[in-house]
Amino acid sequence: MDVYEAVASRRAVRGFTDRHVPREVLERVLSAAAWAPSVAAAGPWDEREYEMYPPSLKSPYRERRSAFGQERYSALGIGREDWEARQRAASANWDCFGAPAALFCYIDRDLGRPQWSDVGMYLQTVILLLRAEGLHSCPQMAWSVYRKTVAEVLSPPDELILFCGMSIGFEDDTVEYARTGRAPLEEMVTFIED
Ligand SMILES: Cc1cc2nc3c(=O)[nH]c(=O)nc-3n(C[C@H](O)[C@H](O)[C@H](O)COP(=O)(O)O)c2cc1C
Repeated sequence: MDVYEAVASRRAVRGFTDRHVPREVLERVLSAAAWAPSVAAAGPWDEREYEMYPPSLKSPYRERRSAFGQERYSALGIGREDWEARQRAASANWDCFGAPAALFCYIDRDLGRPQWSDVGMYLQTVILLLRAEGLHSCPQMAWSVYRKTVAEVLSPPDELILFCGMSIGFEDDTVEYARTGRAPLEEMVTFIED
């Protein structure tokens, strides 16, 4: 099944048979799902309309975030304490990493956490459909820290909060990248079987 078919045929099914679902299938799906993108950005800019992370990130998320930083920056040849080089790498966000197209995703400020999760599902769907078109993307929460500058260009209605931007284009495969790791399946999922 291609990604378009998957998106079009997906719906909230509310009637199931008793046909067994093999555990290997669930493991395959849940292991692959771990490759979903996740937030990794920080910095001191416009006053925040929402926090990227809780003020004191607890374990194991704190360790995972720091392991991600190590992996990403060491793949770019940037040392642990080299904040200037880190900032330079982060500043590529403002050029959309060279992408010719960008999407800016807003959410109405009166909506609650469940609707923020809806936005995440929408964006992941967009990301997968872009892959089906041969395109790549980078979701960029970084843009939320320059929301006022973005607003000067887009003039969004006051009731909207900028959740993130997203760079969209064809990959330049001469640019090095690091595939950051994921927590193992058993750390993320507990199977409870009869
Ligand atoms: C909501 C969201 C916001 C993100 N914001 C940024 C960003 O501002 N800049 C950036 O370079 N990457 C950003 N990312 C990409 C993550 O860094 C990336 O998904 C994560 O490190 C995992 O890497 P992978 O997607 O290449 O597997 C964001 C991802 C998500 C889901």
